[in-house]
Amino acid sequence: MLENKYDLELLLSTDQINTRVQEIAAELSTRFKDEIPILVGILNGSFIFLSDLMRAMTIDCEMDFIKLSSYAGQSSTGTVTLLKDISANITGRQVIIVEDIIDSGLTIKFLKDRMKGATPESVTIVTLLMKPEVTRIEFPIDYVGFEIPPDFVVGYGLDYDQKLRHLPAIYRVKGTL
Ligand code: IMP
Ligand code: MG
Repeated sequence: MLENKYDLELLLSTDQINTRVQEIAAELSTRFKDEIPILVGILNGSFIFLSDLMRAMTIDCEMDFIKLSSYAGQSSTGTVTLLKDISANITGRQVIIVEDIIDSGLTIKFLKDRMKGATPESVTIVTLLMKPEVTRIEFPIDYVGFEIPPDFVVGYGLDYDQKLRHLPAIYRVKGTL
């Protein structure tokens, strides 16, 4: 079992995740019922969350992906690099950014600022997980699936060194990997 091989402890079960994903999808479906929002997932981590979230939506919606990489480096600011841009034209659109986890907040801040340049009608941020004790941002996150302690977690799209994304639940890494 991978849980034992990597010394993992269950944090959020598949059932808990699914219930919360359905709730968020229902809220988004109500809020955007007269629109056709575009879900923009941040690769790679959000691909499983986005696919479950989108399948639970009951209104018309579209999707795209953007790929970013953040390097914390030695300074506290760090930098974010754009690896793949979205293909869709989001001018005048209702954009829903879909993130797996907000840690320092650097990635989501970069993306929010970048999106503004394309003049969408609105930008809504949805994240499955957030570590509020370490997040440093000056704007609110619209939808947060779960607030978790600042531990390293894997599964349901989240990786350690590109592995363990396929675990169907979310685990805290107990030891050092
Ligand atoms: P931030 O820019 O510090 O908010 O980091 C956000 C990105 O770091 C996320 O999109 C993840 O890709 C990655 N990340 C942050 N915390 C974790 C974690 O606990 N497990 C796996 N990836 C994480
Ligand atoms: Mg990510």
